[in-house]
Amino acid sequence: MSIIRFGVSLEKELLEALDNYASDNHFNNRSQAIRNLINNNIVTSKWQCNNIVAGSITLVYDHHKRELLPHLTGLQHEYHHVILSSQHFHLEEDLCMEIIAVKGKAFILTELADKLIAVKGIQHGKLTMSRAD
Ligand code: NI
Repeated sequence: MSIIRFGVSLEKELLEALDNYASDNHFNNRSQAIRNLINNNIVTSKWQCNNIVAGSITLVYDHHKRELLPHLTGLQHEYHHVILSSQHFHLEEDLCMEIIAVKGKAFILTELADKLIAVKGIQHGKLTMSRAD
């Protein structure tokens, strides 16, 4: 892969934000940080497409939170056609982790993950996807 150099003009605040991002993520230089940001952006935009992808949605939550479980179950039934399986792990006294394996159109999986992660009481949520067509 050939490397092309180009100049970038940025506001001072944006440059500071870039440098913070680079140091927080242990990048060696700004180029590496920018490369990573662009790649993330491209991956995220692909997630809105019609490609068939497979992946997982990881959720971490406190199962004592009222209405959380019925809400999670309801959403999973609504999207049953893209859910392959799910597994529940009791991490601590209160803390649960659920990993939901999914396959389907990228934008539908993104929609499902966004809804699940937005459920009140979810402490952490993440969707990962790989092309599967
Ligand atoms: Ni549990």
